[in-house]
Amino acid sequence: MHQAYFLTGTDTGVGKTLVAAALLRAAAAQGLRALGMKPVAAGGAEDVDALVAAGNVAAPREAVNPYLLREPLSPHLAARRDGVTIDLEIIAHRFDELRGLADFLVVEGAGGFRVPLSDAHDGADLAARLGLPVVLVVGLRLGCLNHALLTAEAIRARGLRLAGWVASQVDPAMACVEENVAALRARLHAPPLGVVRFQDEPDPARVALQLELPA
Ligand SMILES: Nc1ncnc2c1ncn2[C@@H]1O[C@H](COP(=O)(O)OP(=O)(O)O)[C@@H](O)[C@H]1O
Ligand SMILES: [Mg+2]
Repeated sequence: MHQAYFLTGTDTGVGKTLVAAALLRAAAAQGLRALGMKPVAAGGAEDVDALVAAGNVAAPREAVNPYLLREPLSPHLAARRDGVTIDLEIIAHRFDELRGLADFLVVEGAGGFRVPLSDAHDGADLAARLGLPVVLVVGLRLGCLNHALLTAEAIRARGLRLAGWVASQVDPAMACVEENVAALRARLHAPPLGVVRFQDEPDPARVALQLELPA
């Protein structure tokens, strides 16, 4: 069994890494070989480290994270400052390497779905190049319904399948959480995989217990 997903979010800082790590832990708990990939990281390797810690198979770091950019900027700008050009073919090649090592692969995108990666390509192009079903993390805060629906529309416009969505309450003061989740259920037309309420100390292992794996 080989499953691979592209994990995107309604924005940066919405819980993608937390959810990616939790999905990997959930898959590992089911006896699957679970592996995360972060093709483009900008401004630090925390996401890469979190995915590596959550997976249960070893893989070459340069395949797990082909591009580590120094500055916390949009990837196309961070890459320019580092004097590199992000090449989707290199990422696709690295992805193929990883694919053989795992049963369950999660590829965490940078930022939101249409984040520019270079002058030529963006996150949607990467997801389409890899040809993966997409899991959407909705960061529950005011404005998230619009961002979630726009992202779902963009995913489907690329001919990609929205394999599921997870709501993560990044804002402890978010009002009407249940009603917002109900609005997502009614409008996203994709499987809900879980709702992660605000946690003082977010822990992927605990979040894993609240998620269903996408199919
Ligand atoms: N449900 C939640 N409860 C509390 N904090 C959360 C929750 N989801 C995400 N966070 C926190 O929000 C920040 C951004 O989450 P992260 O997973 O790094 O987002 P992304 O990968 O989308 O940038 C992190 O500090 C994370 O721990
Ligand atoms: Mg992240």
